[in-house]
Amino acid sequence: MTMAQKRLIPRLLQLALVVLGVYFSFILVFDVLLGQLIPKSLLTMYMVFVVSGVVMVFTFTEEGTQELVGPIKALVEDPSKKMLRNVVFVIVPLLAGYYTYTSMLPSFEAPMELRTIHPAPPSKFKAFGKSYNLTTLENPYRKFQKDDPAKFRELVKAGGDVYIKNCQYCHGDKLDGKGPYASGLNPTPLNFQDVGTIAQLQESFLFWRIATGGPGLPAEAAPWISSMPVWQNFLTEDEIWKVILYLYDYTGRQPRSWAHE
Ligand code: HEC
Repeated sequence: MTMAQKRLIPRLLQLALVVLGVYFSFILVFDVLLGQLIPKSLLTMYMVFVVSGVVMVFTFTEEGTQELVGPIKALVEDPSKKMLRNVVFVIVPLLAGYYTYTSMLPSFEAPMELRTIHPAPPSKFKAFGKSYNLTTLENPYRKFQKDDPAKFRELVKAGGDVYIKNCQYCHGDKLDGKGPYASGLNPTPLNFQDVGTIAQLQESFLFWRIATGGPGLPAEAAPWISSMPVWQNFLTEDEIWKVILYLYDYTGRQPRSWAHE
């Protein structure tokens, strides 16, 4: 009697069971117990190490190796296994072909990612050739709202001129995001009347968005390319601060501020 006949479970099956056992333990520990999905690529990497390790252990002795590859050798060489051999050598390539084919089919589903409309701003950014700190940046004209209302009205009016000349094409003359170009754009220009936009934001955030436009957005605001222009190339710093005053004034909203007023 050889070793192989004594065994309850053949060595090859043992190897497969150990590998599968480790695989499902990973899934059990990470996904089920810890609630942390392991990325597929990482799991593949772990499994490469696991399989190499297990194969090393199983082929440690000459005898063990013989036992392990015995059934494979028999399948390829044994004349009595001709039928089985033909079946395996047809089915395996067909399965591999089918798998490759289905994994290459294009998907027509919308991408899973949702666009972050208000991405976390950087704490610092560059515009107009200098560096701004977003946490301390304030609209230099905001103080006139209380201190000098007449002057404030003038500034808002100047901001309105900037808006009508530059922004209404996309954001609309009622600031509702329905400008003449809007329907052709994806993502669509934002509707400043909506409570979900400027009312939620600080003026410094707006300054950053207006000065650096679509190209200034961080990666999480992808996957679509925003058509929002880089206004630091066309407007002055003052004009941007004034148009911001206008956006809040027209919509009757107040910017969010750090201070609890
Ligand atoms: C060519 C069309 C276009 C023009 C012109 C344009 N915008 Fe935009 N703007 C967009 C689009 C599209 C978005 C939404 C995508 C994004 O966030 O970049 C946007 C977003 C913004 C946002 C971000 C608001 C938020 O809630 O995050 C601000 C602020 C803004 N625009 C202000 C302006 C101002 C001020 C002007 C004029 C000086 C202007 N835009 C001109 C297309 C335009």
